[in-house]
Amino acid sequence: IPVDPFDLVIFGGTGDLAQRKILPALFRRFCSGQWAEGVQIIGAARTIHDRAGFQTMVAESLRTHAAAQCQDEGALRAFLDRVDYVTLDGYSNEGWDQLSDKLNQDRVRAFYFSVGPRLFGPLAERIKAHDLATPSTRIVVEKPFGHDLESARALNATLAAHFRESQIYRIDHYLGKETVQNLMAVRFGNMLFEPLWNSQYVDHIQITVAESVGIDGREEYYERAGAMRDMMQNHLMQLLCLIAMEPPAKFDPDAVRDEKSKVIRALDQVQPHHIVRGQFDGGGSGKGYSETVGNPRSTTESYVALRAHISNWRWAGTPFYLRTGKRLVARSSVINVMFKDAPHSIFGEEAGRHANVLSIRLQPNEGITLKVTIKEPGPGGMRLVDVPLDMSFAKALGSGNQDPPDAYERLVMDVIRGNQTLFMRGDEVEAAWAWTDPIIAGWHARGDVPKPYESGSTGPGDAELLMKRDGRRWQGINP
Ligand code: BG6
Repeated sequence: IPVDPFDLVIFGGTGDLAQRKILPALFRRFCSGQWAEGVQIIGAARTIHDRAGFQTMVAESLRTHAAAQCQDEGALRAFLDRVDYVTLDGYSNEGWDQLSDKLNQDRVRAFYFSVGPRLFGPLAERIKAHDLATPSTRIVVEKPFGHDLESARALNATLAAHFRESQIYRIDHYLGKETVQNLMAVRFGNMLFEPLWNSQYVDHIQITVAESVGIDGREEYYERAGAMRDMMQNHLMQLLCLIAMEPPAKFDPDAVRDEKSKVIRALDQVQPHHIVRGQFDGGGSGKGYSETVGNPRSTTESYVALRAHISNWRWAGTPFYLRTGKRLVARSSVINVMFKDAPHSIFGEEAGRHANVLSIRLQPNEGITLKVTIKEPGPGGMRLVDVPLDMSFAKALGSGNQDPPDAYERLVMDVIRGNQTLFMRGDEVEAAWAWTDPIIAGWHARGDVPKPYESGSTGPGDAELLMKRDGRRWQGINP
C-alpha cells in the first residue's frame, strides 16, 4: 500500500548503520513502488558534504548493499533525486535553520537518531528549540538503549521530556525480521499449537541465536557490552516474549506490548549456576577474543547460555534455555519447542522414548520442522522412528531463493505509517534491564571469568553441562 509523502531526517546519515541498513532499506521500498511522489530523505551529520557529495556516497552504498534486490540505474537516479543533505551539529545551532527550511509542513516527519545515545538528549532538545516538532513527528532510536536500568531510565526520561511515548520508536531489528513476526502467525493463526503451548505439554524450550562472525570493527563497543547486553537483553528477550506471551486480544501496538511486558516481569532472577559465560579463543583460525580487543585480561563474554523461568500459570515448571554467541560453528537462529514424552507407551519399553520437537528456524533456511514419531517400516514388530515433517517457507511460498525483505524495510515503513507494534515500549526496555542488571552485577561481585571456547565450535562445554544436569541436551547448531 503506497504511503503519503513524508520527510525523513537521518541524523548520523554518513554513518555505518545509515549507509549499510537504513538507506538500502529505503531504496528497496522505493523500488517496490511503495512511495508517493515528493518523499524527501535528508542526511544530517557533522561531516562537511554538499548535496552532490552525499548523493555520491549514498549511490556507492546502495550499489554495494541493495544491488541484489534492485539493480535498476534509473530507479537509483530517481531515488537520489529525493536525497538531500545538511551539515549539522547536535551540540550547537549550526545547520538547524537550513534543516528547518527543507522540511515540509502537513506531512509525516520522522527523525532517525542513527547516532550514539549520548546525542539523543541534545538532538531532542534542538528539534524542540528550533520548532521542528509537529504533531505528526516521530523519532526513531536504535540500540544500545542504555547500558543498564539506570541509564535506560535516564534516556527514557530525556526523550519523554520532549516527545510523547506514541512518538518514540525504539528499534530492536529482530522484530522486523519476517520470520520473527512469523512466530506470532504460527502461534496465533493456527488452532493446532496453542492448546499444547504450556507446561502441561512442553518439557522445555530452547532459543539459540548462534553467529559465526566475530566482533571485528566493533571492539570498543563490544568490550563494554558483551553478549549479555548486546544480544540477550534485547534480541533473545524479544524472542522469548513472542514465544511465551499470552495471545493479545488484537495485533495492535499496546495489546502486543502489554503481553510481552508481562512475560519479562514474570521472569525469575537467574541463579548463578544456571548461567554460563564463554569467550572464544583462536582455535587455529584467526584471533581469539582477547587478542581482537587488545586486552589479554578481558573478562567480557562473547557467549552466554542460561536457564530462565517464567513464573506464571502457563509456564511454571517449564524451563527456557537461551544461548547466543559469536564465532560459533554456524550462523543459525532457531527456537525448539521440546514436547514431553507421551504419558504411557503402548509399545513397551523397547520402543524407546520419543517426543515431538517443533523447530522454528528464524535464519537462515527459514521454516518449520516438526519431529514426528512413526513406525519403522518392515517386519520385526513395532519399532518406532522419528522423522521430520519439514517445511521451508521459501519453497512453500514459491519464493525460490529470494531473500526475505530486510528487517529495516518493514520497520522504517512502520515508522512512517505510525504503527508501533514492532517497536519496544519504554517500560519493556526497563523491565528487560531490571532482569539483566543483577546477573551482570553478580559476575562482577564474584569476579567471574568466562570459560574459553574454540572458535568454530558450539560454545563452552559448561553450556552442555547446564543441560546435562537437567537430563536434557541442546539441539544441534545447523546452518
Ligand atoms: C546486533 C548486534 O544488534 O545484532 C550484533 O549488535 C549482532 O552483535 C547482530 O551481530 C545480529 O543481527 P542479525 O540480523 O545478523 O542476526
